[in-house]
Amino acid sequence: MKQTQYARNKSELTPEQQEHVITAARILNHGGTVAFPTETVYGLGADVNNAIAVRKIYDIKQRPLDHPLIVHIGDISQLNYWAQAIPEAAWKLAYTFWPGPLTLILHRSQQVPDSVTGGQNTVGIRMPAHPIALALLDELGSGKALAAPSANRFGRISPTTALHVQQELGERVDMILEGGACEVGLESTIVCFDKQSVKILRPGGITCPELEMALDIPVNLATTTNQTMRFSGMLPAHYAPITPLRIYPTEQIWQQAITLTTQKFRILIMTWSKADKPQFSDHIIGHCAMPADPIAYGKQLYAKLRQFDEEAFDYLLIESPPNHPSWLAIADRLQRASYHSSNIC
Ligand code: TXA
Ligand code: MG
Repeated sequence: MKQTQYARNKSELTPEQQEHVITAARILNHGGTVAFPTETVYGLGADVNNAIAVRKIYDIKQRPLDHPLIVHIGDISQLNYWAQAIPEAAWKLAYTFWPGPLTLILHRSQQVPDSVTGGQNTVGIRMPAHPIALALLDELGSGKALAAPSANRFGRISPTTALHVQQELGERVDMILEGGACEVGLESTIVCFDKQSVKILRPGGITCPELEMALDIPVNLATTTNQTMRFSGMLPAHYAPITPLRIYPTEQIWQQAITLTTQKFRILIMTWSKADKPQFSDHIIGHCAMPADPIAYGKQLYAKLRQFDEEAFDYLLIESPPNHPSWLAIADRLQRASYHSSNIC
């Protein structure tokens, strides 16, 4: 199997981490819930085959019951067990990018319970690339998989550290596995297949050009979602900080910040370009200079938005990301995060 740049080795775990994984697997095999690190964001896991445990995930997240969960598997060979009529393109993507930040939407097999799919005839499957997630899946035993959404309350920003999970879900989850800061920091790319084409339902850790290179066909962002498909991550408002967030082009952002500051609002301005601050901008309260590289930017984004919520700004003004495929996932998350604040100023 081809290993991607995200692949990690289970043998990297310390004895202490191995012990935590064994405890976590025991909890999961007894119908509990465990938050665990992946390379994208932290997940809130339950045994796919335990409908009561899966139901706990929905309760903890306050997520509508008809929004499906991704099935996380520990080995590519398990794809056949959870899905059927798998297109060749799906196998190609799995072999190219797994373990890694890519979720495949496929026809569900009979093994997949309704509790996971929200009653749909498809299932989302991914093999995560984090040594703790892989060790946990291994420890669960054969034929087991983890149903896991991101470990945040419904509609909020996904957690990228164990501390964020603690802040989001606290005591409601049976165990939180510590696995450091997530390497990618944004959720997986979700793709679906029909006879002729492969479409991106949610941009994420694997970019469109990477998919195209692997498949040697054009891959497009899905524009209209099938009415019968439900994607919580595809709702126009999602991934949102508490503080109202607005996006401005480079040439407008400083002026907008100054206007709001003169109205006595506490403003945080987040930029990626090296566009000069105007000289008269000294009284703007916060400025966060983000990396101009999408991988580094994506890794930090959610942690920064959480930090800004804690610092209680009135508004977050974000510089529009570059119009380039490698920034697509970031642009998508910022757009959804800004949805409720479009009328603020
Ligand atoms: O990176 C990720 O994908 C993270 C980590 C934990 O793996 N998980 C994640 O899960 O982001 P969640 O539930 O927060 O977002 C998964 C998205 C949701 O929008 C869900 O509706 C959609 O995938 N989804 C899952 N199964 C689906 C299916 N069978 N058909 C359509 N959409 C599906
Ligand atoms: Mg989520």
